[in-house]
Amino acid sequence: MLKLQSLSVSINGKQILHKIDFEFAKGKIYAIMGPNGSGKSTLAYTIMGHPTYKLAKNSKIFYNGQEITPLPANERAEKGIFLSYQTPLSLAGVKVNQLLQLALSGKKDPLFIRRQALKIAKQLRINEDLLNRSLNEGASGGERKKMEVLQAAVLDKELMIFDEIDTGVDVDALKSIAAYLRRFQKDKAYIIITHYNRILHYLKPHFVVIMDKGKIVRVGDRQLAKQVEKSGYGEMGS
Ligand SMILES: Nc1ncnc2c1ncn2[C@@H]1O[C@H](COP(=O)(O)OP(=O)(O)OP(=O)(O)O)[C@@H](O)[C@H]1O
Ligand SMILES: [Mg+2]
Repeated sequence: MLKLQSLSVSINGKQILHKIDFEFAKGKIYAIMGPNGSGKSTLAYTIMGHPTYKLAKNSKIFYNGQEITPLPANERAEKGIFLSYQTPLSLAGVKVNQLLQLALSGKKDPLFIRRQALKIAKQLRINEDLLNRSLNEGASGGERKKMEVLQAAVLDKELMIFDEIDTGVDVDALKSIAAYLRRFQKDKAYIIITHYNRILHYLKPHFVVIMDKGKIVRVGDRQLAKQVEKSGYGEMGS
């Protein structure tokens, strides 16, 4: 579904990712773990097409067989990629429904979008009041994360990247987020960037990918995440 080919990425002239080769397949859940600063968010932004991140000349990204390296973020979103940010921003003067309607204009009926957002908000126990405010205005850390899942659910993309969706989220919210994602997993690929096993307990990943110093240094199954929790990253990269 998504293929990274010799992916090297720099920010302001500083190389962050080093020749990553990896393929994410449909129907699978991937957990990406790794120490702070190992390049996990950089990888997520790069896949989404954030303009700050510069790819090396021979680095390529393919999505469903088509090269998307030159495409800007909005076109990648059109193709089916969604990124939930590690630090969700607030947006003054724009409500979540307005944002969703803009993103889905001409594709889904505005009334349907509204109804779906309400339904999902209930399932995720998001206070309706949050839907009526400007996006994330005064929202708590956990509320922001839940709003990201709500947007992911309504936009319903094929490849969804969640950068630390579990950070700052209470146990009930975590369970409902995981249950929600599990339900739609069959036709999608999820990339769950996390520091914790907690979410992986509910959202069992098929693969655990460990990053260190801008490289993928280990790929394993859930046992690998348990090993990380027990012993840390230690010498994993060497
Ligand atoms: N705009 C930037 N300018 C300079 N360096 C940057 C910039 N953005 C990221 N970096 C550096 O790139 C490296 C990787 O950062 P990244 O955010 O991808 O790490 P991460 O694995 O997501 O870490 P965390 O677990 O703390 O979220 C870090 O050393 C970071 O300081
Ligand atoms: Mg990060």
